Formats: sequence, C-alpha cells, structure tokens
Amino acid sequence: MDNRLFFPATLRNRDFIGDVISSIIKTNGSILEIGSGSGEHGVFFQKRFPEIKWQTSDPDKIHRKSINSWIEHERLNKKMPQPLEIDVSKVPWEIPLDLSNSLIGIISINLLHVASWNSAELLFRESGKLLKKEKFLMLYGPFKIENKHISQSNYLFDNSLKFQNPLWGIRNIGEVSKEAERNGFFQEDIISMPANNFSIIYKKFRDN
Ligand SMILES: C[S@@+](CC[C@H](N)C(=O)[O-])C[C@H]1O[C@@H](n2cnc3c(N)ncnc32)[C@H](O)[C@@H]1O
Repeated sequence: MDNRLFFPATLRNRDFIGDVISSIIKTNGSILEIGSGSGEHGVFFQKRFPEIKWQTSDPDKIHRKSINSWIEHERLNKKMPQPLEIDVSKVPWEIPLDLSNSLIGIISINLLHVASWNSAELLFRESGKLLKKEKFLMLYGPFKIENKHISQSNYLFDNSLKFQNPLWGIRNIGEVSKEAERNGFFQEDIISMPANNFSIIYKKFRDN
C-alpha cells in the first residue's frame, strides 16, 4: 500500500540542507534523524550520501508508515532501516546497539518549534549521551537571534504556533546553545538558510 505523505517544504529545502550536511560529514557511519516526518528528507539524503546509513525516526505512526512507503518506493529497503519510534521526551531513547556504535551525528529538521522546551532539553541530554567526542548534532529550522525574530513572517509564524499549542514556539539560538553546552556540545557554526531558517551545527567537546 502506498502510504507516502508529501510535505511540500522538503522539496524546497532539501538541496540546501544537503549542502550543509555534506560539509560536516567527515567519515562513514550512521546518522540518526529525529522527527523525520514524511520521510522525504530521509530517502533524499540516503541517496545523496550512499556512504552513510540514514536512520529515520518519528513518534507518529502515520509518519512512520509514510517513511516506510518512501523507502519502498525509492527501493532503498536493503540500505535503509525502518524508522524508529522515538519521541524525544520519552527517555531513555531505545537505540539499537549497531546504530549507537556507528553513530556519527544526529540531525533534526523543523522540530524544536513544534515541541516543548522540555523536549528540546531532552533532545540535547539524550544526544549528549549517545554521541561521542567530535560527533555532531545539527538542527535546522526557524530561530530567534538575541531573542529577536529575523523577519515579520517568522514573528507571525511564532504567534500561530503558540496559538496552536502554548508550549510551542520559535526558539532563541542563545538559549538553545546554552542547553547544548550543558550537555557537552559547543556551537560550531550557524548558517543562514533560505526562507528565514538556520542550520546550527553543534559538536561534542567531551564524552559525557
Ligand atoms: C514540522 S514536522 C517536520 C518533519 C520533517 N523533519 C520535515 O522537515 O519535513 C515535525 C515532526 O516532528 C515530529 N515530532 C513532534 N513531536 C516530537 C517529539 N516529541 N519527538 C520526536 N519527534 C516529534 C512530528 O511527528 C513531525 O513528524
């Protein structure tokens, strides 16, 4: 059965995000994606980076079905594992041993603004436990700089998020990076992306 979902933004941002990923991948291994959504990013990045094993995840069953459908549609079954059921707020995350042993990075695209701050804290805590020194955590999405929105459209988007769920909202990079540091990461780079988004690259500076 074809359970593929189509998230239009993925087609617009995947090349730009892929370029950032390409600049931070230094070795072979596995990448864990948190909040994979439809799975369109996952299959696209798996094809662009064949040396990597791309491990998707999502807490939403419909999204996991879509991810599986995309994997099948792109004939990546032999290469890509099935999505894991990871909700960042439910700790500890259950991670297969072969994944944790080969993990070079964790990537989360468009998650922090549709999750509670507690989920953000747990994303860093669990990632900090899983990733060894020198490994990366990459976030992509809309963020505030020095607690200010970078565009009127982000301001309006933030209001609409808070209206849907008072725990959601566009996060301030400074606070996000403080949380990262508490868990053994330093902010290596902030890259301005199209459509008022950022990629933030964190690197582990210690083994937790
Ligand atoms: C805005 S969508 C982004 C999906 C995809 N990354 C993209 O950019 O198209 C947010 C995704 O995060 C997932 N999500 C929401 N809460 C989550 C949580 N607590 N832990 C992990 N994923 C979560 C949702 O199910 C959804 O697939």
